[in-house]
Amino acid sequence: MNSKITIAIDGYSSTGKSTIAKELAKRLGYIYVDSGAMYRAVALFAFQQKWIGTDFFQVRSLVENLKHVSITFVYNAELGFAETYLNGINVESDIRSLEISNYVSRVAAIPEVRKLLVSLQKEMGVSKGVVMDGRDIGTVVFPDAELKLFMTASPDTRAKRRFDELRARGEEVTYQAILENVIYRDHLDTTREDSPLTKAIDAVEIDNSQLTREAQAKTIYDLTLQILRKNN
Ligand code: CDP
Repeated sequence: MNSKITIAIDGYSSTGKSTIAKELAKRLGYIYVDSGAMYRAVALFAFQQKWIGTDFFQVRSLVENLKHVSITFVYNAELGFAETYLNGINVESDIRSLEISNYVSRVAAIPEVRKLLVSLQKEMGVSKGVVMDGRDIGTVVFPDAELKLFMTASPDTRAKRRFDELRARGEEVTYQAILENVIYRDHLDTTREDSPLTKAIDAVEIDNSQLTREAQAKTIYDLTLQILRKNN
């Protein structure tokens, strides 16, 4: 089986997209790209420049300065995945804070931001052999992806997962604040005008509220093998 495919994983926040995408990429020897990290890096950039806050957003300043944003991924062998760099600085941890989560969906709704990041994402996928997760991967970035997954889970399950994750990293957060962020981002991501989060008609929907990580990994790996066999 030597012809590589493209795998697009979309879905709501904290549905475990990145966990399954990383596992799958590792098993297949593919490249994993976290498109959300790119939107988070732009949100961090806007935040560092003081262009975004709870009640303000200087969209024009951000758009005019997008040329000064350089996002790269550098593989960390110890962690087993690529970390996100913004203008040469490792921001892997900073982009995951609740504060950046609270700003990112407003930044991701800006058409100029999407245009820039989508073109970078398309470039990363030209040689196939890529697993990319996000919100518009199967609909906009790789509409021809051979395998498209759409992940869902109840808001409670997702907030609980994100709460455990942030607490484990030592961030002082409340469950209620996380739940509000999850619901707020779902709303912005599904209602924005430019490439809203929606299930591609040919995507396989997986609700993992009740699925163990192992059961989910097996279902998705089996689906991938079926497609690889058909393609060869
Ligand atoms: O980790 P989580 O699923 O919560 O979010 P993420 O994948 O890190 O994405 C953060 C935010 O970036 C999302 O809530 C979207 O607003 C935006 N995003 C997007 O608009 N398009 C993508 N392809 C990926 C993320």
